[in-house]
Amino acid sequence: MTHDWSQLRDLATRIAGEAGALARARRSHAVIEPVATKSTDVDIVTAADQATEQLIAERLTGARPHDAIVGEEGADRAGSSGVTWLVDPIDGTTNFFYGLPGWVVSIAAADDDGVAAAAVYDPTADVMYSAHRGGGATRNGRQISVSPVSPPLSRALVGTGFSYRSDQRTRQAEILLRVLPEVRDIRRLGSAARDLCLVAEGAYDAYYEAGLNRWDLAGGWLIAAEAGATVAYLTPATKTRRLLLAAAPSLFGDLAAVLSAAGADTDP
Ligand code: IPD
Ligand code: CA
Repeated sequence: MTHDWSQLRDLATRIAGEAGALARARRSHAVIEPVATKSTDVDIVTAADQATEQLIAERLTGARPHDAIVGEEGADRAGSSGVTWLVDPIDGTTNFFYGLPGWVVSIAAADDDGVAAAAVYDPTADVMYSAHRGGGATRNGRQISVSPVSPPLSRALVGTGFSYRSDQRTRQAEILLRVLPEVRDIRRLGSAARDLCLVAEGAYDAYYEAGLNRWDLAGGWLIAAEAGATVAYLTPATKTRRLLLAAAPSLFGDLAAVLSAAGADTDP
């Protein structure tokens, strides 16, 4: 079955805008408290995460009743169209919980060949990133691209993120010790989806993180790739915690080599 991915991108964009407005309103009008924890005690879920995902699932079901949905908070549904929506209602829940900016809504549509349409919306900055396969990437409607002339690794600003599990964080800190002396500086802003969009618009030169979920990275991966970044896993599909690297093409190999020398791509 063929799909009009630009239409699906527009649908994702509309729903991400509405969902982001809902989450932003919840943030400003209600006391935000965790209602549950997930992988560890510091991996929180708020009622706003759940309400935002419910709204997204309702809108997707209304518009595309035969598509499948995989949502971070469990709004999963089987489908028959060959399209699967990957939904992260609030990526950067810790930022959201603390009242920090930099949390986003991420909605992506995939087929057997991968993600083909996506929207990532940052409601605190009112910035919408969108992309569809072969159609480039936009920020608030304007085409974006990674910097054509990227700096050497020693002048590169590199984003990363950490697991919610303390044993994995120990390993991530060891890898960071090897990366930090090799680059301009490191950022840990708290949303993988937004981190990938920052690579897309050239605000980061690169971003790496291990162990992300499909909903964390689906939308941002497409947006970064459509903006010209090289985006790939450095670990084989047999690994459960795969290492993702997104970078301006000329930087990718050098940073991959540093990560590899630190053993980041051979982690269990
Ligand atoms: C998390 C964020 C964070 C990343 C974690 C993710 P959540 O997602 O993307 O930046 O470092 O790996 O789990 O829990 O805020 O939806
Ligand atoms: Ca997430």
